[in-house]
Amino acid sequence: MNGKRLLLIVSGGIAAYKSLELIRRLRERGAAVRCVLTAGGAQFVTPLSLAALTEEKVHCELFSLTDESEMGHIQLSRSADLLVVAPASADILAKMAHGLADDLASTVLLATDTPVLVAPAMNVRMWQHPATRANLALLEQRGVHRVGPNEGDMACGEYGPGRMAEPDEIVAAISGLLEPGSGRLAGRRAVVTSGPTHEPIDPVRYIANRSSGKQGHAIAAALARLGAETHLVTGPTIEPDPPGVAVSHVVTARDMLAACEAALPADIAVCAAAVADWRAATEAEQKVKKRGKAPPELKLVENPDILATLSAAGNRRPALVVGFAAETESVVKHAQAKLAKKGCDWIVANDVSAGSGTFGGDANTVHLIRADGVEDWPSMSKQAVGDRLAAAIADHLDGSRS
Ligand code: CTP
Repeated sequence: MNGKRLLLIVSGGIAAYKSLELIRRLRERGAAVRCVLTAGGAQFVTPLSLAALTEEKVHCELFSLTDESEMGHIQLSRSADLLVVAPASADILAKMAHGLADDLASTVLLATDTPVLVAPAMNVRMWQHPATRANLALLEQRGVHRVGPNEGDMACGEYGPGRMAEPDEIVAAISGLLEPGSGRLAGRRAVVTSGPTHEPIDPVRYIANRSSGKQGHAIAAALARLGAETHLVTGPTIEPDPPGVAVSHVVTARDMLAACEAALPADIAVCAAAVADWRAATEAEQKVKKRGKAPPELKLVENPDILATLSAAGNRRPALVVGFAAETESVVKHAQAKLAKKGCDWIVANDVSAGSGTFGGDANTVHLIRADGVEDWPSMSKQAVGDRLAAAIADHLDGSRS
């Protein structure tokens, strides 16, 4: 990050104390950091702390005559390579989504075309509120990048997603954005499957499952951030296409397999899709009607197994094939059996039992299972799981390259 210029916007939240550590880590890596502190942020950290750590003047006021004569708010954002909002409160996300500009931070964010990374931090109910969900979806659609939040104990005494990502996770996200393509997976090709598949019964009905695609999409985004040429093959989902990733949108398991095979050769395959195990043996051409009393019989046939097929692809087999195991009980034991059965190299096992909140949620608790052992990862955002998995893949391939 040598010579990179970051504008760090510190908004109101107890997580602001972690922003002090974030500044230190960024400066250790050679980045120059300037800060904008909101009125809310100033309730948690002082301008003096930020000034001491950045060795720069801290900007707090929108209508400051000295600042406007020295460096106006437009210049403040344009002179940076990246704007980082950490912590990003629910309030500042709402302002960003709706184009409000009533203080220096929101004005800078509106007046810029520089890329923006947000590290949300808020109470779990605020995070889960439909208003915040909608604001975030809008921001992500517009290309705003996000890191976290993580799940865990919160300062307010509650538990859940809403904790700001750790400084190291934010640094990794910043470095991925500032140095795309020069990452550790540059020159590698990756195929990732994500989302559910839909298996038609008739023109209006289909067999599906609760997968949101969040985890698979986060993995594809993380691999691309590390420089891999990434091809995402996704079933139907509302997740936006990740930036910098080639995407094939498919519906059925058979389409997904065909798209994966077309994307070979690849060095890495990660099968995170929740592929429907079965499909209707025949697809009715017209809507099946309620004729008579007995419900119609649904005959099922097995779908192709994409993970097993890629794992046994002979000389087209990716060097590293990673599967997922969605389990509701004996998670690690069942996943170890799956590793052997599918012939893949690693399995990421996750608990999708009722109450785990994995399906559709933003957090995931996983175990990475390899031939030589099991790593239990703490509960993290799906994005952080993606980053950590991409880093583990890069470590592995670095080892096999040397
Ligand atoms: N998978 C696949 N193609 C299928 C079924 C599963 O590629 N037809 C992949 C998934 O993407 C995941 C792994 O296989 O990486 C395990 O999926 P999971 O649903 O947990 O396992 P199943 O194969 O369905 O086994 P079981 O029903 O016994 O749990």
